[in-house]
Amino acid sequence: MSIFRKINSLFNLMRHNKTTNQDEVVSQNSKVVAAGHLEIPEHLAVIMDGNGRWAKQKGLPRQAGHRAGAENLKNLCRMCGRRGIKYLTVYAFSTENWRRPDDEVHALMQLFVEFFHRYDRELAAEGIRLRFSGDIGALPDDIQKIISEAEIESANRDKMQLIVAINYGGRREIVQACRKIAEEVKQGALAPGSIEEEDIVRCLYLPDVPDPDLIIRPSGEQRLSNFLLWQAAYSEFWYSDIMWPDFSEVHLIEALSAYTDRDRRFGGIRTK
Ligand code: FPP
Repeated sequence: MSIFRKINSLFNLMRHNKTTNQDEVVSQNSKVVAAGHLEIPEHLAVIMDGNGRWAKQKGLPRQAGHRAGAENLKNLCRMCGRRGIKYLTVYAFSTENWRRPDDEVHALMQLFVEFFHRYDRELAAEGIRLRFSGDIGALPDDIQKIISEAEIESANRDKMQLIVAINYGGRREIVQACRKIAEEVKQGALAPGSIEEEDIVRCLYLPDVPDPDLIIRPSGEQRLSNFLLWQAAYSEFWYSDIMWPDFSEVHLIEALSAYTDRDRRFGGIRTK
């Protein structure tokens, strides 16, 4: 790419603060990322971290950070759907997030309800089906009702599935799978020695969803935090210091570009 095009891209980014065109984008460190040959993961998972710090940096209450994070989730859905990603899983509330102050937990629950009401038309226009993963039965009744309505209403949309991990914990998911299998053993339907990986998989929350190819975590943290423990066995990871509400198409393309360069061997040998 010529110096002129790089400078022109940088100029455009400064003017519009977004992707300059379909083929290239300039990252925050002014690196030009060619987006023309991006490999698109079938399943992208995102840990939407950094809302609280984003708000603190701006002198705002934490809830304002979550609100900005919800707004950004809508943007991410549109970007992913248009780029051909088939499954997008987002970590919205973990089984450990109940440890937060009551007012923050309450505000998050209200935000979930508001999100699905406010953005349903836009999600519908983008062909996005909504699904949920987690210990849904332990959520407040009004949230369970919204979840069930959203799943039913969006069931026929087929461009992309947005999977919201809510009251989700990877360990809890595996424990509940073990309980189901133990019950089958108790009933005589399964012998302990014949339990295979496929038996665990069919007892996970969403057995039909493929494992995530790429997991993105913004905000500078580099850990999984009980997210998709079983499914992440061969996922690629991409981390960034950016706080979730500021995660933009530039960062998505950087992540996809890094993913494109990865050599996924799944324990085998080099494939490219
Ligand atoms: C982690 O950041 C974020 C959460 C626990 C909540 C994520 C929820 C949203 C983005 C709201 C939108 C979701 C839906 C489904 C509408 P943090 O608060 O721990 O940030 P910090 O580490 O900076 O404190």
